[in-house]
Amino acid sequence: MERGVGEVLIDEPTLQARIAELGAEISADYGGRDLLMVGVLKGAVFFMADLMRELTVTCEIDFMAISSYGAATDSSGVVRILKDLDINIAGRDVLVVEDIIDSGLTLSYLMRNLRARRPGSLEICALLTKPDRRRVDVPVKYVGFEIPNKFVIGYGLDFGERFRNLPFVAVLHADLMSEGA
Ligand code: IMP
Ligand code: MG
Repeated sequence: MERGVGEVLIDEPTLQARIAELGAEISADYGGRDLLMVGVLKGAVFFMADLMRELTVTCEIDFMAISSYGAATDSSGVVRILKDLDINIAGRDVLVVEDIIDSGLTLSYLMRNLRARRPGSLEICALLTKPDRRRVDVPVKYVGFEIPNKFVIGYGLDFGERFRNLPFVAVLHADLMSEGA
């Protein structure tokens, strides 16, 4: 196994099975509507690509990039839009797709920002959530997995931009964590 990869928390079959369930749930909820999925770069790309292929409803995608972290593993609380949406979301059924909700600061800012653009509806789908770390409340409609308070990598999640390509979610090995990124 690659250096830095610790205990596997969610293996590939478990991830894919849950994503199929989420896809079915979202398809049922958005039946007959025109769904716009907004992915938060870069971490959500992998999850979003798999989730989208499980949907049976008409859907479009767009992306936003926001910065909340530097390369380190703790939230600065500073949120900035690095790339905005290409599409006008007024009146649209918007589903924000995130890799992980940690403190909730990033999504809470993003939701306020998107709400001001008057979408027809606005919901969140997050692959992972760490409930113990939450500092602000964010209403998440769809959650893949609740995980313990550990720094995780893989399936889109990075440590210093590495490990996004792992097909599973693992804990960052303590040795690498202490080095910083
Ligand atoms: P929040 O604003 O604290 O909720 O942070 C959310 C963002 O922090 C996510 O979109 C991730 O990019 C990053 N993040 C939080 N926890 C982890 C983790 O365990 N591994 C990798 N990235 C994380
Ligand atoms: Mg992120």
